[in-house]
Amino acid sequence: MDDFIRKAGDLHAEAVPLQAIAERHGTPCYVYSRATLERHWRAFDAALAGRDHLICFAVKANSNLAVLDVLARLGSGFDIVSVGELERVLAAGGDPRRVVFSGVGKRRDEIQRALEVGIHCFNVESPAELARIDAIARAQGRVAPVSLRVNPDVDAGTHPYTATGLAENKFGIAIGEALAVYQQAAALSGVRVVGIDCHIGSQLTELAPFVAALERVLALADELEHLDIGIEHLDLGGGLGVRYIDEQPPSPAAYVSALLERLGERPYRILLEPGRAIAANAGVLLTRVEHLKRNGERKFAIVDAAMNDLIRPALYQARQEIVPVRAHDGDSPGLSPSQSPDANANENRDENPDEHRGQLQRVDLVGPVCETGDFLGKARELALAEGDLLAVRSSGAYGFVMSSNYNSRPRAPEVMVDGDQMHLVRERERLADLFAGESCLPPAPD
Ligand code: LLP
Repeated sequence: MDDFIRKAGDLHAEAVPLQAIAERHGTPCYVYSRATLERHWRAFDAALAGRDHLICFAVKANSNLAVLDVLARLGSGFDIVSVGELERVLAAGGDPRRVVFSGVGKRRDEIQRALEVGIHCFNVESPAELARIDAIARAQGRVAPVSLRVNPDVDAGTHPYTATGLAENKFGIAIGEALAVYQQAAALSGVRVVGIDCHIGSQLTELAPFVAALERVLALADELEHLDIGIEHLDLGGGLGVRYIDEQPPSPAAYVSALLERLGERPYRILLEPGRAIAANAGVLLTRVEHLKRNGERKFAIVDAAMNDLIRPALYQARQEIVPVRAHDGDSPGLSPSQSPDANANENRDENPDEHRGQLQRVDLVGPVCETGDFLGKARELALAEGDLLAVRSSGAYGFVMSSNYNSRPRAPEVMVDGDQMHLVRERERLADLFAGESCLPPAPD
């Protein structure tokens, strides 16, 4: 469930009306719910209670300092893919000893910094990277803890751009070659083998691919044991899907229990790297209708958020629910949520928020950016008027973090709601920020 709830017709984030946030901070604007973030993180943590584990939030999903801070206070670890993400974790008070470093292209300076602050583990994606980490660690007089990220060649059944565990993808070390690379690693003095890592894709709505990947990882773990290359942990990555419109992903509890069942009595510490399942339904993007227009038969609502603010629809043909913030006369007030702890259970959806309104029209919600691909939603049944405030739901993951300044549009502010308080946790970019750091050429010599 999440904490974006309709009360007396008005959509709230926890106890704060979204309308009030839009009035205070303008639109477009990202809004997060602290309570939802916490509940979703705890759903994973609780599912692994009684077992040595670490939930490493995938920072790429939402790297706002306030989000990282909220999770760090719960004791979260973090999965990072750049030194930028590492500095964010540190700035938010995250513990470097709970950081795992993923990604296929770690630079020397990134490895150096991660060693300096003492991260938990490097998830190594190639023999070349292994050699680089070994050399840098030896030069620093340190020993780098490493896992190899193996590519299990499992079809995650997700969008081609978010599948990472197929042999054809750039990620990881082919599982058939992993044993040899582990043997190389075991012989290096600058690294210490501590685990096996695997991440097969994102927005998975079935358990079978996770279980298939785990089985391959366990077979590798057995082979390593025979070679006396002991490992301490299995990092099973992230990837659990969420409900955007009508998907029915497993709950974190069901996902973890399927993994634990396969794991049996094996003593490994379990690391998970969920991003979307924690953050997506903890955020909305607020946007206002600027104009309504019609081109022939096609009706458009031009809103003030665009693909530069939320690129998922344009990039992945992703569908996210878009709802009016204020119910109009005759709207049903909506239901209050039940208190399930699962990230995927009982999301508080409007069954059909507009079913009581007249003038429902099928509209494409498009932004002001000069691209045909600039849309937030297509063929949505809504009754809209200029000035209406809308919420694009499930925008807390891969929303703001993927935003850009395309068309010289300042990036949106981010607001974190905590009970009845709203906190501005990132200011709207100013126009001057757009070209700060740029310069014209020196004057021409005459
Ligand atoms: N661990 C690794 C190594 C990853 O590459 C990712 C995501 C995660 C964990 C977190 O996965 P999650 O639990 O969030 O599914 N921009 C795309 C999603 C890209 C995911 C990339 N890797 C989207 O908006 O759908």
